[in-house]
Parts: sequence; structure tokens; C-alpha cells
Amino acid sequence: MTTLTINGESRSIKASPDTPLLYVLRDELALNAAKYGCGLGQCGACTVIVDGKAIFSCITPVMLLEGRTITTLEGLGSPDAPGPMQRAFLAEQAAQCGYCIPGMIMRAQALLNRDPHATDESIKGELQPHLCRCGTHMRILRAIRRAAEEMKLKTADARTRR
Ligand code: FES
Ligand code: FES
Repeated sequence: MTTLTINGESRSIKASPDTPLLYVLRDELALNAAKYGCGLGQCGACTVIVDGKAIFSCITPVMLLEGRTITTLEGLGSPDAPGPMQRAFLAEQAAQCGYCIPGMIMRAQALLNRDPHATDESIKGELQPHLCRCGTHMRILRAIRRAAEEMKLKTADARTRR
């Protein structure tokens, strides 16, 4: 049996160790935010964060993930208490059909975690592996900028309270 740490919780996995994480998330753990798009590492819909890096869960077998820290969109907030990135995507109405959005959010979150001052160019470069068939790219970019501003304000606020 494989044990994974997902969104801060230890989870025992029944699926065979070579099963891609995406299938385990959706079929075994009812964590349905990550989406099945291509299943080939070519669209970004299934993206989650592992040890701070955005990865394609559709091509990553669970046996490679024991002892690592996995975050899915569910780990960033909930419908009642969305996190800064989720709030920004809502505020900018960045989703049209929404299918690409969980993956976009996870990669953007990983980027801002390591570089809160990411430029538009680096945001665009980072999101290259992600396809959006609805063409909401400009709204997605605005949402990520908005989230970056909110995260910076929060960090500055925390510093002044120390
Ligand atoms: Fe994983 Fe497309 S479903 S990259
Ligand atoms: Fe529909 Fe991106 S919002 S694919």
C-alpha cells in the first residue's frame, strides 16, 4: 500500500503503485479539482504541486510520491473560504468553462510561492504548458497579478505586526 501526504493529511492508497496520481485523486480520494484533459502531459488540466513544484498528475505514478508533499486545489481553500489565488480568479471572472482553471491556479500558485514579484513575462512563460480552449488568457493573467498583489500586502501586513 502507498501512503501519500495530500493537503497536509496522510492518505493510504489502494491503487497499484504505478497508477498515475490523477486517477488516485479523482477515483479513490474524491479530490476532483484536478482535471483529466489529455492524459499525456500536454494540456496542464491535471496540475498539482509536489514539494513546491507544479507537476502533471496524469503522468506521475504514485510510487514516486511517497514522502513528498502534495497540494491540490482543494488544499488552497474551500468554496466558503477560498485562498487568495482562488479569490482573485473569482474576482476577475477568469473562468469561462473552467476546465483549465484548477491547473492554471496550481501552477500560478507554485510560481508566486517561489517568486512573489513574478513579472508578466515570467507568468506567461510559466503558463506555457497550459491550454485554455476558451481563450480567457488575459483574465487569467489579471487574476494572477491580483493574487500577487494580495499576497504581497498580506506579507507586508504580517511584517508590520511583528
Ligand atoms: Fe495531464 Fe493533460 S491531463 S497534462
Ligand atoms: Fe475553458 Fe480555460 S476557461 S478551457
